[in-house]
Amino acid sequence: MMFPIMDIRTRIVFGWGSFQEIGGLIPIGRSFVVMGSPSPRQEALLERLSSDIGGDIEVFKGVEPNPLTDTVDRGADEMARYHPDQVIAVGGGSVMDAAKAMALVAHSGGSVLDHLRGTRPIEGMGLPLYTIPTTPGTSSEITPFSVITTREDRTKLGLRDPSLYPTRAIIDPSLTVSLPPDQTAATGFDILSHAFESYWARRSTPVTKRFSLEAVSLVRENLKGAFMDGSVRIYREGLSLASVFAGMAFSNTGTTICHALSYPVTYDTGLPHGFACALSLPGACELMAERDPEVIRSLSHAFGCSMGSLPDEIRSMIRSFGIDPRLRHGSVDGGMERVMGPEVAPFRDNLCVSLSEEDVRGLYSSMFIE
Ligand SMILES: [Fe+2]
Repeated sequence: MMFPIMDIRTRIVFGWGSFQEIGGLIPIGRSFVVMGSPSPRQEALLERLSSDIGGDIEVFKGVEPNPLTDTVDRGADEMARYHPDQVIAVGGGSVMDAAKAMALVAHSGGSVLDHLRGTRPIEGMGLPLYTIPTTPGTSSEITPFSVITTREDRTKLGLRDPSLYPTRAIIDPSLTVSLPPDQTAATGFDILSHAFESYWARRSTPVTKRFSLEAVSLVRENLKGAFMDGSVRIYREGLSLASVFAGMAFSNTGTTICHALSYPVTYDTGLPHGFACALSLPGACELMAERDPEVIRSLSHAFGCSMGSLPDEIRSMIRSFGIDPRLRHGSVDGGMERVMGPEVAPFRDNLCVSLSEEDVRGLYSSMFIE
């Protein structure tokens, strides 16, 4: 029997303080830098970046959390006019996702919505992309995915193509030290969701599964500590490494139903992505325990609990970060119809067991107060 084991095309540099070596990691040239909202910290990073890599720099600031199609199109327009040699994304997952989509649109024209809806083919970014994450979580710095929010469709839609792998990721866990506790917790649950969903994905392999389990263990060992005291190096390193492992796993397998169910929730309630994904994890674990107990045996072992207690352990962990593990009814407008739409089908079909429409309805309902 032969199957693809692992395919990661991003060259990854990892280490505390690796940002200090940036001059040797990104070539000199015309650089288009994509960043989030302006802040003193972002300015300090930008100053260091421009002094160490040299060359000409144009900066696009202000990518919002859950980046919008309008922002991507605006950035793509600026990028196309600037004619850079390379793109550098500095920030969280939203910045990485936006930078990939901007480069894609700048290269091929049109609007990002055409690519998200599949009416225009993905023809690559046309430029090298260097990523410098300041949060762990999405792993977008090493994945071939970009998720963009569309007001037109009232949800998030994703781009997935091998051409979207960044060229090189410079992962310096010391850049995550100032991440506030609530965002630390949300990004931790994003990692956990990637790891769980990759593990039970149809495309998982023995290698991606090992990476998933390692990510689960690292989140269990480090998330509480990083939430309580974000300045502790070992916790931040553990979470950044967990993000790399989960990213390597789900780059190859994709995510599944929990991510699909989270998109309308984040769109309507503003609940951060990681928590929105985590709300359906307990229900998904209960379902998987019935259909494929071995999966839950392995995941619960990595999470440090028994199979039967895994759903409640996840719920109590969510609660320990001040988030209610169940949503109020009516908080997502027409949610059930939205999660039964055609865009959810690929996520549903990517599960290692088959899911009926009734199963999806049940999972969606499990996110709400009974
Ligand atoms: Fe995610």
